[in-house]
Amino acid sequence: MASRINIINKLAKNRDLTDEEFLRLIYPACSFVNRMPGEEGSLDIPGRIEPWTENEERHLYLKARETVEKVYGKAVYLRGLIEFTNYCKNGCRYCGINKGNIRAERYRLNIDEILSCCNKGYELGFRTFVLQGGEDPYYTDEMICGIISLIKSSHPDCAVTLSIGEKERESYQAYFDAGADRYLLREETSDLKHYHFLHPDTLSMEHRQNCLYTLKSIGYQVGAGFMVESPGQRPEHILKDLRFMQELGPHMIGVGPFIPHKDTCFAYEPQGSLKSTLHMLGILRLMFPEVLLPATTALGTIDEHGREKGLLAGANVIMPNLSPSDVRGKYLLYDGKLCTGDEAAEHREGLVRRVESVGCHVEQTRGDHISMA
Ligand code: 5AD
Repeated sequence: MASRINIINKLAKNRDLTDEEFLRLIYPACSFVNRMPGEEGSLDIPGRIEPWTENEERHLYLKARETVEKVYGKAVYLRGLIEFTNYCKNGCRYCGINKGNIRAERYRLNIDEILSCCNKGYELGFRTFVLQGGEDPYYTDEMICGIISLIKSSHPDCAVTLSIGEKERESYQAYFDAGADRYLLREETSDLKHYHFLHPDTLSMEHRQNCLYTLKSIGYQVGAGFMVESPGQRPEHILKDLRFMQELGPHMIGVGPFIPHKDTCFAYEPQGSLKSTLHMLGILRLMFPEVLLPATTALGTIDEHGREKGLLAGANVIMPNLSPSDVRGKYLLYDGKLCTGDEAAEHREGLVRRVESVGCHVEQTRGDHISMA
């Protein structure tokens, strides 16, 4: 059996592996308690369950850094995240702002509030604004287009990214025509059973994946991704996500650990681990040298230096929070979400220091995918 070091070298060289080989990299990073009810789970996995040695981890991260630096150097790109509504019509079981959570304190930002976040962000040096929200029908396509055009006319040198869920082609096209550049929509999982374990029956995996293909065909830079160690997730599911992303070819991949939220039905599920997430970042970087890979807020939430460790494992994007401070504490997708420290956009100096502490530097540009720059 090939050693893990050899498999990492092969991935670094070929950008691809056999299913067997991928599973050998994924397996030890997944907790075995993490199973859907009634699922057997495959424990006959010789050689796959030995924990990673420090040497193997170091090797993965070194290769991942080497790979990203060949494309983007030591640059880290910032995106200012504006969480403009926490109303949502969906009932995703993992998410703290799902519609069934009667404890969530709901809020919406109006167009002036959103624009003033962008203005503040611009002053702080941000050149990408990410408008993220629950799926909130209050905002019509016309309103979203209006917001996009206003931001683009006030800040023509900035990119606008949307992260507002599943829509139909006409809506995506209208936002694009209004000036939106990018769209983030994690597929969440690429295994059908697991998809239905995480989501209500009203949602379909096929529609979600189709949305990503539609977005790409319109011309967006698209971001896909999934949570690491979400309830019921098996290594085989992650393998399917990797295969899905090979087919889709996203410009960005968002992966962060699952973190339970106390008012969801997954409140007592274990949280995704730092190690598994870092392994995943390293593997993704080797598979996709050009992809934009954020060190997520969730990673920063489970470990004080999670995001720096993420950068060292191959990430090259950080998305600080630009939402008005009085609503930040309400956009709670999971417990303990960072919202007042260095991840806050106004604490830019702290953030710059963190980035520099791992030998990288913050780049004050739009930070497009290399193929679109
Ligand atoms: N833990 C970690 N990530 C979460 N997300 C939603 N709920 C959680 C959670 N409990 C992620 C989803 C979504 C993104 C905006 O946040 O993957 O796509």
